[in-house]
Amino acid sequence: MNDPVRVVLVGLMGSGKTSVGKALAAKLSGTLLDTDQIVEADTGMTVGEIFAAEGEEAFRRRELVALRRALEHQPPSVIATGGGIVTSEEARRILRELSEVVFLDVSPEVAASRVGDASTRPLLAGDALGTLRDLERSRRGLYEEVADIVIDADRRNAGAVASEILDALEVAA
Ligand code: S3P
Repeated sequence: MNDPVRVVLVGLMGSGKTSVGKALAAKLSGTLLDTDQIVEADTGMTVGEIFAAEGEEAFRRRELVALRRALEHQPPSVIATGGGIVTSEEARRILRELSEVVFLDVSPEVAASRVGDASTRPLLAGDALGTLRDLERSRRGLYEEVADIVIDADRRNAGAVASEILDALEVAA
């Protein structure tokens, strides 16, 4: 019998962390935790409001607290992180120590076609595709640094991506 699994999803905005996370959590009969949602519940503000009121650095500190809190949750669980969590050195240290971190590797073009909600994605106001291209260039190495497996997330079907993750992790669901 395998130990209960905890999978952490990292990747750009629009890589499908939430939809793949839902499909994975269902397959694992586990809980889906989302660091953006934890931060919003902690503060009573949307991510956009936090960026506007406190700035990005303050948001990153809150995001780190949310990651630690999510990791306290009893597995089986799936943790969908915000796309910028890997910019924190401390978050990367925590993620590197885990064994089931999955990088959902998406092209900026596909990511741009999926994103829409400006209230959680203040960084994408304006030229979303251009910003995603820049973020992809600056963050790819950071996602790779923390990831145990890399999954091509350009495809649409979240259930198929979730199954591929379980296969790669050699987890039977
Ligand atoms: C961010 C990604 C967002 C959210 C915030 C910043 C980023 O989360 O945390 O808008 O820096 O890439 P999602 O990746 O869930 O959209």
